[in-house]
Amino acid sequence: MGNSWAVITGSSRGLGAHLANAFWSAGWNIVLVARNQDDLLEVCKNLPERPNQRTVIFPCDLAQPVEVSLLVEKIKDQLPRLDALVNNAAIHGPIGPLVENDLTLWNKAIQVNLMSPVTLCHGLLDLIGKSGGGAIINLSGGGATGPRANFTAYASAKAALVRFSETLAQELESQGIRVNCVAPGAMKTSLLEEVVVSGKSVAGTREFEIAENVFAQGGASMNKVADLVLFLASDASLGITGKLVSAVWDKWQEWPKHIEQLAASDTYTLRRISGRDRGMEWGDV
Ligand SMILES: NC(=O)c1ccc[n+]([C@@H]2O[C@H](COP(=O)([O-])OP(=O)(O)OC[C@H]3O[C@@H](n4cnc5c(N)ncnc54)[C@H](OP(=O)(O)O)[C@@H]3O)[C@@H](O)[C@H]2O)c1
Repeated sequence: MGNSWAVITGSSRGLGAHLANAFWSAGWNIVLVARNQDDLLEVCKNLPERPNQRTVIFPCDLAQPVEVSLLVEKIKDQLPRLDALVNNAAIHGPIGPLVENDLTLWNKAIQVNLMSPVTLCHGLLDLIGKSGGGAIINLSGGGATGPRANFTAYASAKAALVRFSETLAQELESQGIRVNCVAPGAMKTSLLEEVVVSGKSVAGTREFEIAENVFAQGGASMNKVADLVLFLASDASLGITGKLVSAVWDKWQEWPKHIEQLAASDTYTLRRISGRDRGMEWGDV
């Protein structure tokens, strides 16, 4: 992997910091992005020494469109190539019923969770294509595949990010750029802690109990997520694109043996379920 480069957003803590470590250990050069420069430096400081690899940090507030555009320019100026773009940074936005949400915060969640990945893809496709192909990996989240009450902003942004990824995957297939999404499962991070802190009455009983349970029992394995993201970033996943892959539930290790079948089907994608799919024949013509 000696000369491969990955950009990982939201890599100052939580899953992003874990992914930064995993890419580094797998031999990648890494670009770390988040708001807090000290936290990014701390992540770099704790990486094992590897003299032939490079780290670059770009502090950036992804909630500010101008900063995201500047980030694109800095990446294009300073990187010789880009092999993997991991859009991992995300925020919940307002938690609670829509009617009580501050729409400014709603908008901010759309900007960080959806528009910043869109802007990074838009601005960096040329650089990714320069070395003959590459991978875009977008982190999905609760609400992308089903409703998530009290998290309308987050759920809407994540559902849109998944459909954006499916659509971009089709556009880029002939250029050898794969676009996939990863559902990591509920993990013990500051994002989930927010759900516990917001309380049952705001987040809702179901969400609160899931989060509380994760903090009591440990939650999904970040190592499994990192294995999956590294797989999607590597040539081992050639031919796999436009899919939403669960790090917890999917046997993706088997997928390279079934590339044609996967490509020809709508499995692992967002689709409408009709009455016919549920045995309700009265519902369809
Ligand atoms: N944790 C879960 O249970 C769970 C479940 C499903 C999906 N996910 C997804 O997994 C990904 C990682 O989540 P996580 O739990 O690791 O979150 P986290 O612990 O809250 O970390 C979020 C990261 O994003 C950065 N970030 C937040 N706002 C930013 C902004 N405006 N500009 C730039 N960077 C920003 C944070 O750094 P700064 O604060 O320094 O900016 C931090 O590095 C997210 O996409 C999330 O939706 C998480």
